[in-house]
Amino acid sequence: MPPPPRKRPNFPGSKPWQRPGPPPPKKRAGEQGWDPVAGWYDKLVGDKGSDYHRNVILPAAMRLLAVAPGEKVLDLCCGQGVLIPLLLEAKAGAVTAVDASPQLIASATKRFEKDKRVRLIVADACAPGPWADGSHDAAACIMAVHDVPDLPAMARQTAAALKPGGRFVAIFMHPCFRIPQQSHWGWDEGRKLQFRRVDRYGVPQEIPILTHPGQGGGLTTTFYHRPVGEVLSAFGKAGLAVTECEELFSHRRSQPGPRAKGENRAVQEFPVFMAISCVKLP
Ligand SMILES: C[S@@+](CC[C@H](N)C(=O)[O-])C[C@H]1O[C@@H](n2cnc3c(N)ncnc32)[C@H](O)[C@@H]1O
Repeated sequence: MPPPPRKRPNFPGSKPWQRPGPPPPKKRAGEQGWDPVAGWYDKLVGDKGSDYHRNVILPAAMRLLAVAPGEKVLDLCCGQGVLIPLLLEAKAGAVTAVDASPQLIASATKRFEKDKRVRLIVADACAPGPWADGSHDAAACIMAVHDVPDLPAMARQTAAALKPGGRFVAIFMHPCFRIPQQSHWGWDEGRKLQFRRVDRYGVPQEIPILTHPGQGGGLTTTFYHRPVGEVLSAFGKAGLAVTECEELFSHRRSQPGPRAKGENRAVQEFPVFMAISCVKLP
């Protein structure tokens, strides 16, 4: 017969004993949108964009969007507004910029409040809103397709925002080669080549992303990985037909050294971002 369970002694004034459990979960920025990391993101992107924005993302976005003077353009998930100056430079007649983070919209407001052409709106891109009114000639969603929890809903609202025949451009992390925590560089010493290793791809995942690596901030946002077919189908089913797909490569090059040739070749073989142009079907 097993011995009776031992009773914990009760010391006077002591708190009731509690079984030690796992520590409470860290607060995830993903649960509160991007507000908790808005200051960090604003600093990272600044007025002109991050290194990747300036060299790869923004030039591709503007080339694919091909904004004509006077057009009304929607910037969906605009963040602190990095695309807006380029839209204004291209002489857009009006810019509607939407983001779910009040803090990031506040940063954008500081930059653009004096420009009457810019309308900034705090809203969920996955839900119906006043901006989804069929009045826009073109729309862009830059680096946020993987940040929204319900992509089919966002695609439907984007289509609702456009005129028939309106254009839509999305640029996002390449779903095949840039899956956070599940894709990495590796070096094959025998063949002197750098390869890309992909551990998981086919199953959609919610991946926490640490925003201040090395600074002990501990805040995370959520990255929604979806296989490429799921991404393209979300737009197609919303009536946004893909007319062009570009895979965008890094502009960065290796320091001279024994691996430079292999590394530089890999950079030209494995794209970082995917860009799609769509047109709204009538
Ligand atoms: C990586 S940032 C990109 C921002 C900006 N387009 C850029 O390139 O700097 C992702 C943005 O998506 C926004 N976002 C995420 N989910 C959203 C949603 N459901 N509705 C609107 N914005 C959302 C976040 O607030 C954040 O500003």
